[in-house]
Amino acid sequence: MLIAGNWKMNLTPKEGVQLAEGLLAALPKEGATEVVVCPSFVSLVPIWASIASSRISLGAQDVFWEERGAFTGEISVEMLRSVGCSYCIIGHSERRGRLGKSEYPRSRLAYFSDSDEVVRLKLQSALAGGLTPILCVGETLDERDAGETHSVIEAQLNASAHGVDAPESPLYIAYEPVWAIGTGSVCDAEEASRVSLHIADVMRTYAPNADVRLLYGGSVNAENAAGLLSKAGINGALVGGASLKAKDFAAIVTAAEAIGE
Ligand code: PGA
Repeated sequence: MLIAGNWKMNLTPKEGVQLAEGLLAALPKEGATEVVVCPSFVSLVPIWASIASSRISLGAQDVFWEERGAFTGEISVEMLRSVGCSYCIIGHSERRGRLGKSEYPRSRLAYFSDSDEVVRLKLQSALAGGLTPILCVGETLDERDAGETHSVIEAQLNASAHGVDAPESPLYIAYEPVWAIGTGSVCDAEEASRVSLHIADVMRTYAPNADVRLLYGGSVNAENAAGLLSKAGINGALVGGASLKAKDFAAIVTAAEAIGE
């Protein structure tokens, strides 16, 4: 099992270090569950300083695909690795401009414009550079209501992960229904399991040499985690809001640990 916390654009470096320390205090020193925190770029260095010798791994929320050069504002795989990152979230729906909360002005969504092609480039550079990717896929509410969940996800996987050959790294794919992200409406556990098993199936065709593992993301919390994590095909969770509280995130890890045994 892997439990990853996506802190999104929350917490200053100082607040992040406090949270990381709270998490270290709340978690058993060792365990079979892989625990990852993904703070903002500016917090990576100080947080790595406090978790480097612990069981918690560090992840970034995004990465750029070129190695170096005139790409103002971007951050490379090598830069992330050099500050302790071993994981990277790629193609999160928020980076794709597919936001779960409908009140955000539509006219501004174009600024979050990761296309499937961009997601593919990021995924390939992460794998080539030794960062374990957490690739996010998922449907919006409209797509779901139109019965397009499978076709949308298949198209995302086809465009960004078809042919991925990654013998040295697992490839985590997070099924994150957009309508469940940050909304409190968690996906029904049976449905999350069904879609996860379908993703695993599709990936066996698209990338038979990849070591694919499935996460669920979208309103996971301390109460619903065990129900989701115990379902077939779900190997962990990508947690947003609930990862900002040490006690809640630790409870999710504990739930994973109990199921993993
Ligand atoms: P949430 O976010 O847990 O706050 O819904 C999950 C995510 O965006 O990865």
